[in-house]
Amino acid sequence: MTSLSSELKIKNMMLRNRLVLPPITTNYGSSKGLVTQAVLDFYRDRAKDVGLVIVEATSVQATGRIVPGSLGLWDDSQVSPMAGLVKTIQKQGASALVQLSHAGPRCPPVPGKRHGFSPSGVRFRPDVDPIVMNAGDIGQLIRDFSRAALRAQKAGFDGVEIHGAHLYLLSQFLSPLTNRREDEYGGDAKGRAFLALEIVREVRKNLGPDYPLFFRINAEERIPGGLVLKDALVMAKLLKDAGVDVFDVTLIAQGGWKEAEGKTWLTGSSALPKDLPSGANVALAAAFKKETGLPVIAVGKFGMGDAALCAVQDENIDLIAVGRQMICDPETAKKMLTERDLDIIACEECLQCFASIGRSEPMACKINPDLPGGRS
Ligand SMILES: Cc1cc2nc3c(=O)[nH]c(=O)nc-3n(C[C@H](O)[C@H](O)[C@H](O)COP(=O)(O)O)c2cc1C
Repeated sequence: MTSLSSELKIKNMMLRNRLVLPPITTNYGSSKGLVTQAVLDFYRDRAKDVGLVIVEATSVQATGRIVPGSLGLWDDSQVSPMAGLVKTIQKQGASALVQLSHAGPRCPPVPGKRHGFSPSGVRFRPDVDPIVMNAGDIGQLIRDFSRAALRAQKAGFDGVEIHGAHLYLLSQFLSPLTNRREDEYGGDAKGRAFLALEIVREVRKNLGPDYPLFFRINAEERIPGGLVLKDALVMAKLLKDAGVDVFDVTLIAQGGWKEAEGKTWLTGSSALPKDLPSGANVALAAAFKKETGLPVIAVGKFGMGDAALCAVQDENIDLIAVGRQMICDPETAKKMLTERDLDIIACEECLQCFASIGRSEPMACKINPDLPGGRS
């Protein structure tokens, strides 16, 4: 019977078990988007026991970073330091993917640069005026995703994940909240998926048929007018046909509109509210598996208890991502695999990890003092 310790083969990548470190923006990179010692330390400590590490959102353009210390693969000079990170992870026995991303209008202001790319100009922060992307901007973005993917392959990653979730740029194209375009990149689910499909096809063409290609997608957005599961599943089938191998299924669990000083902007968070239990997103991931037949990753407060094992054994979920609990206690994966989950040092869901990077500071944790951001 499948357990958390069972192996899994995806294309030419063999995973030693079913646990995944999901992408976690640390803000530990250099101002030039390069890997630092703090980045190496963070991933080394968390690659020891999981089957797969997905390195944090890594920007395909200099103006697409989530935080000032986001990693980048927009330039050839970033390949060699990234290769050092890949080796560090693989040396611990885990496979390594990188999440390719563009933050769109959620990137911090970049003085002197044209930035804040957006499908339709919806604001995400008061200090960045979104720019509605024209055909030239879209063509450039497709090229930059595919070049970054090639750089990832060159750096030795076992695969790539495209960040199509959490209301960053590609996710904004998928979402009816943020995509009001009337050209071929907007409209119904198929139209809103058009850009993601072009990117997936281009990346697949460049990386070859055997290279694992994951896509992170919101199953739904729990904001009035947000993406609904039915549409996300339509998109998933199209993305599968375009070349996606695995769906990393997440969501916008909470969010809404804010207003101050005459400006209105949208916010959204992937963290489940405190009152929802461990594994509350399993049914969403299971729906993607049923619809597409592809392997899926489920995420959401996994760690203590039997939710992860039940998801794998009873719901046929392929992979389990453990986020905040791995920030708080890097031994979490080992404890889960050896049925010592009661020894896990519990995450209190205080959201200091999100808050610290939101302030453009290095990621910190209330419980774990061993992070570069310290205890916050
Ligand atoms: C500090 C922090 C940074 C994150 N950065 C990313 C990111 O770069 N890309 C991404 O897709 N998700 C990101 N996430 C979301 C996580 O991958 C995960 O989906 C989320 O934390 C829910 O899982 P959990 O309940 O196990 O923490 C981040 C989460 C946290 C706490």
